[in-house]
Amino acid sequence: MKSWKVALLPALANTRLTVALDNGVGLKPHMGWSSWNVAQCNAASARYALATADKFISLGLKDLGYEYINIDDCWSTKSRDSSGRLVPDPAKWPNGIKAVTDRIHSMGLKFGLYGCAGDKTCAGYPGNEGHERGDVDQLVSWGVDFWKYDNCYTPCRQNPRPQTCTSPAGSTKTWYAPMRDAILGVQNTKKLHFNLCNWGRDEVWTWGASYGHSWRYVVIAHHQHPLPRLTDSRMSVDNWGDWASVERIGNAAAGIYQYSAPGGFNDLDMLYLGSSKLNTNQEKLHFGLWAITKSPLVLGLDLEKISNSTLDIIRNKGLIDINQDSLGKAATTFRPPGAPAPVNGKIYPYWAGPLSDGVVVGLCAGTSAGTYSVNFKDVPGLGGSGSYEWREMYTGQTGKGTSASFNIGLHDMRVIKVMKV
Ligand code: GLA
Repeated sequence: MKSWKVALLPALANTRLTVALDNGVGLKPHMGWSSWNVAQCNAASARYALATADKFISLGLKDLGYEYINIDDCWSTKSRDSSGRLVPDPAKWPNGIKAVTDRIHSMGLKFGLYGCAGDKTCAGYPGNEGHERGDVDQLVSWGVDFWKYDNCYTPCRQNPRPQTCTSPAGSTKTWYAPMRDAILGVQNTKKLHFNLCNWGRDEVWTWGASYGHSWRYVVIAHHQHPLPRLTDSRMSVDNWGDWASVERIGNAAAGIYQYSAPGGFNDLDMLYLGSSKLNTNQEKLHFGLWAITKSPLVLGLDLEKISNSTLDIIRNKGLIDINQDSLGKAATTFRPPGAPAPVNGKIYPYWAGPLSDGVVVGLCAGTSAGTYSVNFKDVPGLGGSGSYEWREMYTGQTGKGTSASFNIGLHDMRVIKVMKV
């Protein structure tokens, strides 16, 4: 197993990923909303999609870059029609899908749907296995822009297939390839964003860019770092919206920072703000960490019920700009002289990553409130002599000099952009 040091930023290396679906989408982490965390199957409807699109406009989210309205599992009927086509559930889509995509496109937004590499989706609706090209043609005819592809009911040594197959390992590429190829086949007519939701199986971060534009890599264990092999139940891989999920996913993000570049991003799973499972400090750290590690920023909440404090967080333009920086490089942890060693499963205090016009530094009070300071000479990418200017994204504080210091409450975060002057 690799040592923890691997996760500590050795240098701001310039990595290029091999991007197979090089179709001009996914050059920045995608931003939007997904129905799943809102009300699971019940939110997979035209009503939610259109209400959310309206909120994207009225809350100013579209202007900030939120773009995709993504419908997750349970949007179709439980079986295909006699021609083998997927059928949008008429109770949820009274005018079909195209009427909704047309409306969403007319608002300058994009629309996403959900499928699955197995013979059923995770919630038991028809999967796409064996129907890949026909289903992609149908998505194209509806004008769908984004396709999340899940990993349930895939070929398995167990019979009947379980929802989550743990054996054989190392095979998810096999059932993601036909869908990738089907999408490649329609590239001249429609440029789909292909989101691999294989729950981090088979170290997807090492090959995801040659299959799609973003990949869920979320790991299983709460206290393992660096990344473990996935052999366990998949139930704990999602973001469940609690602080333990933020710790588990955020902590693991440090280990795979190098697999992030325009065209291919680690997807830390949908944001779980606004559910009341996290307090305001924890929501700030959740959003801030997802932003600096260049995760897609996909809201998983009901925008008709959002609080002002959550709205302030998701509308933080400074953080969004950092997330959307054209370099596409993820931040990871670094250990300044005298700083404590990382504790497995806990969010490390010191993070940094390159930006096209500076460096972002994240300070996380993951385990205790207190004063957190950073000497810029210790930050990878900022070494050498010189003076710096900085701006903090949550407080708006600015400063000049060679260091910065903040009092940070438990589970809160400060994110500073530092530029050499
Ligand atoms: C899996 C995925 C979730 C969601 C559900 C839908 O659990 O990891 O993100 O799509 O399936 O059933």
